[in-house]
Amino acid sequence: MEMDRYEIKESDNRANGSAPEQEPERQYYYMALVKELVQKQEKELGRPLTFCVTTFGCQMNAKDSEKLAGVLLSCGYQEKEDEEADLVLYNTCTVRENADNKVYGRLGYLGSYKKKHPHMLIGLCGCMMQEEPVVEKIKQSYSFVDFIFGTHNIYKFAEILYKRLITEKRVIDVVKEADKIVEELPSSRKYSFKSGVNIMFGCNNFCSYCIVPYVRGRERSRNPKDIIREIEKLAADGVKEIMLLGQNVNSYGKNLEDPMTFADLLREVNKVEGIQRIRFMTSHPKDLSDDLIQAMAECDKVCHHLHLPLQSGSSRLLKDMNRHYDKEQYLALVEKIKKAIPDISLTTDIIVGYPGETEEDFLDTLDVVEKVGYDSAYTFIYSKRSGTPAAKREDQIPEDVVHDRFDRLLKTVQTLGAKKAEQLTGQRLPVLVESLNDHEEGLVTGRLANNSVVHFAADPSVIGQIVDVTLKECKGFYYLGEM
Ligand code: 5AD
Ligand code: SF4
Repeated sequence: MEMDRYEIKESDNRANGSAPEQEPERQYYYMALVKELVQKQEKELGRPLTFCVTTFGCQMNAKDSEKLAGVLLSCGYQEKEDEEADLVLYNTCTVRENADNKVYGRLGYLGSYKKKHPHMLIGLCGCMMQEEPVVEKIKQSYSFVDFIFGTHNIYKFAEILYKRLITEKRVIDVVKEADKIVEELPSSRKYSFKSGVNIMFGCNNFCSYCIVPYVRGRERSRNPKDIIREIEKLAADGVKEIMLLGQNVNSYGKNLEDPMTFADLLREVNKVEGIQRIRFMTSHPKDLSDDLIQAMAECDKVCHHLHLPLQSGSSRLLKDMNRHYDKEQYLALVEKIKKAIPDISLTTDIIVGYPGETEEDFLDTLDVVEKVGYDSAYTFIYSKRSGTPAAKREDQIPEDVVHDRFDRLLKTVQTLGAKKAEQLTGQRLPVLVESLNDHEEGLVTGRLANNSVVHFAADPSVIGQIVDVTLKECKGFYYLGEM
């Protein structure tokens, strides 16, 4: 993709000449330069400069946003909850069309705010920016955007921001492939007691409907030593729960110099003192090994919760989707997991209205949902993503048919989920307390190991701790409890 040209002013040759070549040193160098500029501007304005990073999409993006916020804090900006800030950065998602639309909608609104506050900076990054037509559209119709970068060079954020500040010209820096994984950059955690930890980036699966492999690139695993070191630091910092993140964690480690399985990584993570709960996301059924089931069963800190995307229950559609398993194999896998870990909580992703989906295909999906008995499921209406094989198909499903199926699926998922949740009522279980309750004073909100939400009365000082709570009443998707 083409890069907008920028010029470095003569007066600031530090930007060219003396920047270290090595990462992350290079980015720390640029953070220091940005900080000088921020301080200068603060003096002129007589107030601190503020930023807001807005996240769209998945947990990977949420994790990336923490890194972006970490860079901005290191540059001397102060974080603000709302977008009436001196710098607003949208970390975008493009997995479904409505994710794109949300970004355009909010960007329009942000543009009108900028008209009244012309000094403000607006930046865009994340998956949407890896699509050339999107960047073209932004150049044409959203000229107030100050800088754009993609998923592969997110580590260069400080450098890109510096270039924008110095040149006062729009900077667009999007590359097609990742060249490296940069460790040891700053990060600002949203929660003090739980954290996501990237273990791998990208995806090699090319499911026929999915844009992720095109915008996140090929699979790259982080070195296990770097992962463990990060988790040890988090534990020392008081973090109790970690979520290992990857598009397909079950193929972790295959491309490392010294290959390692995800099951063995889990065993290593389980040894880190201070960490009390380990979760991971996302598992592809085709790569879920017996050894991983074994590791989940034997590692005391690993939550008995597995997110296992089904996508469809129809073997015919699964083949077309390039998922590499059929209905029977999926069900057999679930049986094996339930046998090894009887209290396992299963969640899933399901797509309705994939091209060519017949009523019979859909009934297969409902059948799997009923047989598995998921605790909950994310249900999605198929969204055509240009560039993916499924988007080229002629047999797209009419909207009314899709909506009817979607409603039926949702109802089934909710009824079965509520029934499953009801089974825990009366039990006394550990809850990691996450926050004050949004709706009722005196209540706090936390999560069970299976990820279900519990509200109960307690002093705010328990936030961040794991406490035992009796589940008094099940409200379908959450519980009311008593400490
Ligand atoms: N349309 C609808 N849902 C999709 N997903 C991925 N691509 C699409 C698409 N084109 C869903 C899948 C995946 C989840 C993260 O998003 O269910 O597991
Ligand atoms: Fe998309 Fe399939 Fe990769 Fe998941 S495994 S990110 S659905 S291509």
